[in-house]
Amino acid sequence: MSVRLRVPTTEDAGAWADLFDDAEVMRYVGTGEVRDRAWYAAFVQRQQELAERTGLCLFSVLVAEEVAGFTGIQPWTQPWGPTGVLEIGWRLGRRFWGRGIATEAGRTVLDRARTLEVPRVVAMVHADNAASLAVARKLGLIEEAALRAPSGVPVLQYGVRLTAAS
Ligand SMILES: CC(C)(COP(=O)(O)OP(=O)(O)OC[C@H]1O[C@@H](n2cnc3c(N)ncnc32)[C@H](O)[C@@H]1OP(=O)(O)O)[C@@H](O)C(=O)NCCC(=O)NCCS
Repeated sequence: MSVRLRVPTTEDAGAWADLFDDAEVMRYVGTGEVRDRAWYAAFVQRQQELAERTGLCLFSVLVAEEVAGFTGIQPWTQPWGPTGVLEIGWRLGRRFWGRGIATEAGRTVLDRARTLEVPRVVAMVHADNAASLAVARKLGLIEEAALRAPSGVPVLQYGVRLTAAS
């Protein structure tokens, strides 16, 4: 399988909006709200700026050159949880699920983070999101904490140290 990552292009915003216009995809993401094209256009712009600044972002995942979703690393931006830590995340259109794509893309992202000497990343996953928890575990992340989002949703914090402790 050919899985490739790129900094999302302006056109990728439309592809993401189409792929994620699906309540099943959004079921365990934040409030579960489906977002429109304008929202993804602003989201992609933020990822482009982040990539420029840090070398990391939520990258577009391409499978046989078709946009399948995103996987990447960004700062944790919520007012609760692991403030100041970098978060790894993944989201694919439903037809791309179950083929090992998120795990393969996640490995590439972690390799980049190691090259950039990122000390540690966390994944914040809805406690019922079995597929996402499986990806986190396959990438070597381990459970660190059980939290509750302000909305009341149970969230598991998984994490991994990427650089040797000094
Ligand atoms: C989470 C997500 C990115 C996984 O993508 P994927 O490419 O299908 O993941 P992979 O194929 O690499 O790995 C999925 C693993 O979960 C397992 N899995 C999938 N559904 C499962 C379920 N309902 N129960 C238990 N395990 C499950 C698979 O068996 C696989 O593990 P295995 O390789 O050990 O068999 C995808 O399901 C998705 O986009 N979900 C919607 C968005 C989302 O929830 N993102 C995460 C927010 S924290």
